[in-house]
Amino acid sequence: MEPLWDKVDEYFVEHLAPSDDVLDAALAESAAAGLPAISVTANQGKLLQLLARIQGARRILEVGTLAGYSTIWMGRALPPNGELITLEIDPAHAAVARQNLERAGMADRVQVWVAPAAESLAKLIAAHVKPFDLVFIDADKASIDSYFLAALNLSRVGTVIVVDNVVRKGEVIDAESADANVLGVRRLVDLLSHEHRVSATAIQTVGSKGYDGLVIAVVIADPGTG
Ligand code: SAH
Ligand code: DHB
Ligand code: MG
Repeated sequence: MEPLWDKVDEYFVEHLAPSDDVLDAALAESAAAGLPAISVTANQGKLLQLLARIQGARRILEVGTLAGYSTIWMGRALPPNGELITLEIDPAHAAVARQNLERAGMADRVQVWVAPAAESLAKLIAAHVKPFDLVFIDADKASIDSYFLAALNLSRVGTVIVVDNVVRKGEVIDAESADANVLGVRRLVDLLSHEHRVSATAIQTVGSKGYDGLVIAVVIADPGTG
């Protein structure tokens, strides 16, 4: 990628989102287990953590755990009695994540649910769980719009929903795209443009993971969950 983006990313990470043994070990164990290097960057992890703090989040939902790197960043913003549920389809990923979360000292506050996210989300909705304060959607991109609607069903007015990987090196503007990931993101953006219960924007990001971006949305009208 653009070398200057990496250098600037490193500069801000060094000063504002420094790593530590727990975060380093999470990435090292992820790599050692052969998991793909697609965790959020440190700066993005710090952004998620700040959003959780700004929210005063007590309940966080994550869709797409991988090795639990983003989970650790967000989990560190939770109060002692807070809760984070993270959804992962791959048992091997979940096993690495559980070890990483144990090392991070948050096994008591974090549950890793191993199943297709659509199933876990349906279970959470059927169980009428208390609404989440922050939702981070970062699993398969082809289903990103349906995960967003499920997240809305698990929200209250004020819930913040963040969606990763919505720029895709700019491919998001290709109306002719046949890429299921791009199509998923475009359905999400269409949905957001009509959905009166949320207010949203998208931020383009560059840095050590290249050119991508995030949707940030806040629920502004009763999503029908109390
Ligand atoms: N949030 C993580 C990265 C997640 S990568 C971080 O930043 O640290 C995407 C994860 O979503 C992968 O672990 C993948 O196995 C998982 N995934 C893919 N499809 C899924 C599905 N249908 N349901 C649940 N998880 C899924
Ligand atoms: C991929 C997934 C991600 O969540 C990400 O941030 C980057 C890449 C992927 O599936 O390739
Ligand atoms: Mg991602």
